[in-house]
Amino acid sequence: MTASLKRLAARLPKAELHIHIEGSLEPAMMLELADRNGITLPYPDIDAVSKAYNFNCLQDFLDIYYQGMSVLQTEQDFHDLTWAYLQRCHQQNVVHCEIFFDPQGHTERGIGFEVFMPGISRALEKAQDELGISSRLIMCFLRHLDEASAFETLQAAEPYLDAITGVGLDSSELGHPPHLFRNVFERAAQLGLKRVAHAGEEGPPAYVYEALDLLGVDRIDHGNRSLEDDELVKRLASGRMPLTVCPQSNLRLAVIDDMAAHPIRKMLALGLNACINSDDPAYFGGYMNENFDALITSTGLTRDEIFQLVGNGFKSSFLPPAEIAAHMSRINEMREASKE
Ligand code: HPA
Ligand code: ZN
Repeated sequence: MTASLKRLAARLPKAELHIHIEGSLEPAMMLELADRNGITLPYPDIDAVSKAYNFNCLQDFLDIYYQGMSVLQTEQDFHDLTWAYLQRCHQQNVVHCEIFFDPQGHTERGIGFEVFMPGISRALEKAQDELGISSRLIMCFLRHLDEASAFETLQAAEPYLDAITGVGLDSSELGHPPHLFRNVFERAAQLGLKRVAHAGEEGPPAYVYEALDLLGVDRIDHGNRSLEDDELVKRLASGRMPLTVCPQSNLRLAVIDDMAAHPIRKMLALGLNACINSDDPAYFGGYMNENFDALITSTGLTRDEIFQLVGNGFKSSFLPPAEIAAHMSRINEMREASKE
């Protein structure tokens, strides 16, 4: 039974809405790029890198994540990183992706928009042409830095805004509440950008309220801790506010104790608009299908819930309504066919 559900999840066309491109840097590519760019890493081999990927919380992970991205130096490096992720999408039937990137993780090292934007964009265009994968880019502000730095980043991005759909908020959540970024999100709205924010991963429900009320977000990234507040759950459910949930990330960053305790089924039962995502697949043990597999193995996820989660992914995307409808009709056809 679980094997056939895993095959179903693998086969379905899927949308991924919460993936940090820097978090798709596999250990092998990290070592290869370090070599190519003459950078010395504190890891002699792949095993040593994998061993270092042992985290107790978000901050443990972020320390290694920022160190890892130091190998990304040239336009070609950003292209190769993005292309490798898109090939994984292709293998796993992810047909649409909305990709986060962290400009300040690069500009702080002297690598500018003129380096990473063409590299990432070239890979996205190639994926549309050669693999039929559609995509959007979402630029995240690092919340451990201040709002002035976020404003500088938004300004530096202005020549590239045709290629950027929205802004997000990521990095260390606790102690860096959404309200601190209210003005820069307002400016992003004036520029016609979509808005999303990580909230309720480690932070309390109050941070989710702030993201909704002060940042005007279109989606909440993670949102797990919303479950602690019944009023918030009701509000999220009645507004069909998307939550981009990341099961393997939740396990590896100790947001949950074990996969069997993942609240995804409870979220759906409460009427929440959750979808499944990989977050930082190279660091957390897998891409989209591995996340479905883990839920199927450990939580008893059902066939109907799989269809619900996959449909929520497309419906929560920033694709135009006609494209969402086309994806949904394909999924509904597969739903009918899989009943037989
Ligand atoms: N949370 C916050 N910041 C991040 C994450 C995350 O899961 N992944 C990459 N940056
Ligand atoms: Zn994330």
